[in-house]
Amino acid sequence: MTTMTASQFDFLCKIVRTDSAIVLESGKEYLVESRLAPIARVQGLGSVGDLVQRLVSSPSAQLRAQVVDAMTTNETSFFRDVHPWQTLREHILPDLFTARAVSRRLNIWCAACSSGQEPYSLAMTLLEHFPEQARTWNIKIMATDLSPSMVERCKSARFTQLEVNRGLPAALLMRYFVKDGAEWRLTDDVRRMVETRAANLVVPSSLPQMGGIDLVMIRNVLIYFDDPTKAGILSSIHGRMKPDSYLMLGSSEVSTGLSSDFARHQTGKTIYFRPTA
Ligand SMILES: C[S@@+](CC[C@H](N)C(=O)[O-])C[C@H]1O[C@@H](n2cnc3c(N)ncnc32)[C@H](O)[C@@H]1O
Repeated sequence: MTTMTASQFDFLCKIVRTDSAIVLESGKEYLVESRLAPIARVQGLGSVGDLVQRLVSSPSAQLRAQVVDAMTTNETSFFRDVHPWQTLREHILPDLFTARAVSRRLNIWCAACSSGQEPYSLAMTLLEHFPEQARTWNIKIMATDLSPSMVERCKSARFTQLEVNRGLPAALLMRYFVKDGAEWRLTDDVRRMVETRAANLVVPSSLPQMGGIDLVMIRNVLIYFDDPTKAGILSSIHGRMKPDSYLMLGSSEVSTGLSSDFARHQTGKTIYFRPTA
């Protein structure tokens, strides 16, 4: 049951697509209703249909940004999918540390970081398994997301009990978090390894300038885009990567081949990509 007319739903799909590239299709009305109902309530409006009508009749950049933010899916967890982290630990990071032994510098980009579990999993992996490099090399982990609320959450480095119960080994919880009221806060040695900011994958000028990236993790976000958008994003990422770098996608995003810009590799159950030229 939706409170939106077909043309209101269509208008909403257009603004979400324009601002984030996220494709909403017919049949997703229920999702829109559940995501936008809280905003309609706070605005003192009777329904999501009324909220969309307000966006049509008196456009407000702030309200529009809030609506687009609410339509992002922020599902994530520490060490999501497990096996990519084993491949990172046993193959990718050791290879990068050998290849960069002279510059002692690593640039890592977690594009679409959501509330931060992914970049902080990476920071903990480095501290646990590569302590010397983690403490003495120049390692930058740049975490970005479109959603302002997720950027704030990632910066805060605070997680609920439910969040730390998902995927985080108890030993790492004890070593790298402190209890702070009802939440868990990451310690400063993990926090300081991650720099977080807003970036929209379809606005190249908003993307971080990192001067040659060694590892890109862009996981579980391309699924929301259409094929030309995915291709454009991957091409722009390719242009920012070093020739001997690595690209990791989400498990459900690796089945189709990428453009000839990237070669597909597999180690155990993990599929990853490397630039071809
Ligand atoms: C499902 S989460 C993935 C989080 C994490 N990478 C993981 O795999 O667990 C998808 C994230 O992509 C972000 N996102 C959606 N559209 C985006 C865009 N155009 N630019 C940057 N981030 C975007 C959302 O805000 C959301 O936090």
